[in-house]
Amino acid sequence: MLILNKCLPLRQILRRCHRQAMEITKIGNNHLIDFKGKWPEEEQQEFRLHMRIITDFISESEEQQLHEEIEPYMSRLRYEFDHWDDAIHGFRETERKKWFPHNREVLERVRQVAFDGAIMPYIHILDLAPDGVIKPHVDSTRYCGTTISGISLLSDSVMRLVRTDAQRYQQNQQSTTDAGETDSKDADTDAAYRHQPKEASLENKFYADLLLPRRSLYIMSHTARYNFTHEILAKEHSQFQGTPVPKTRRISIICRNDP
Ligand code: OGA
Ligand code: MN
Repeated sequence: MLILNKCLPLRQILRRCHRQAMEITKIGNNHLIDFKGKWPEEEQQEFRLHMRIITDFISESEEQQLHEEIEPYMSRLRYEFDHWDDAIHGFRETERKKWFPHNREVLERVRQVAFDGAIMPYIHILDLAPDGVIKPHVDSTRYCGTTISGISLLSDSVMRLVRTDAQRYQQNQQSTTDAGETDSKDADTDAAYRHQPKEASLENKFYADLLLPRRSLYIMSHTARYNFTHEILAKEHSQFQGTPVPKTRRISIICRNDP
């Protein structure tokens, strides 16, 4: 059996991920999660159940086929760098319902592995520029259910999940307030989809850094989805266990279920 040492050099970890995906899936993905700060034991156990990373979820040719379907449309859009307040900076995005059959098969595999039931018909595609960043946020409970999954194309990256302050920032309470104020204009703004906490400091918080290898699938659900912000570190901060993780252009294919 493959024993993964937490201190293995990153390049070696990534190489093993790519070579021995099946074994790693069986063993678990602890080597891809770096827990930081003082985690209560129970929280950490729960987090491990609800934040999964499957390496080599798609093959190189599947990655290429997905990319080929997305690229003609995506390359016509402009990367948005204008609104510094938005949760995402340096990105272009679209939603897609109809897919070529071979890509539809990949999405069906996502549904089977990550979701109990149906996924939303529109799949979200996010193209993050090399110097783009996803800042800490929680996806709105109004537009998105218990589970969010993402396939990473073209680049490795580091995702950080920070425990939110239950008193000051609690999605579930927020959504109750939201429900009474629904208006369609609001629904068009980034803020309606992605809630950003006011307090950005990591001091006194516990969090986890996740290594998301290119072609992996992450599945973020329940506690990981509701009680933690998620973010993709900017290229200048992109490191895992002290080793730089070069982040180039990254496309993510994100499936969600209904609220
Ligand atoms: C988002 C998001 C994560 C990713 O679009 O809200 O968090 O993997 N994306 O791109
Ligand atoms: Mn999000």
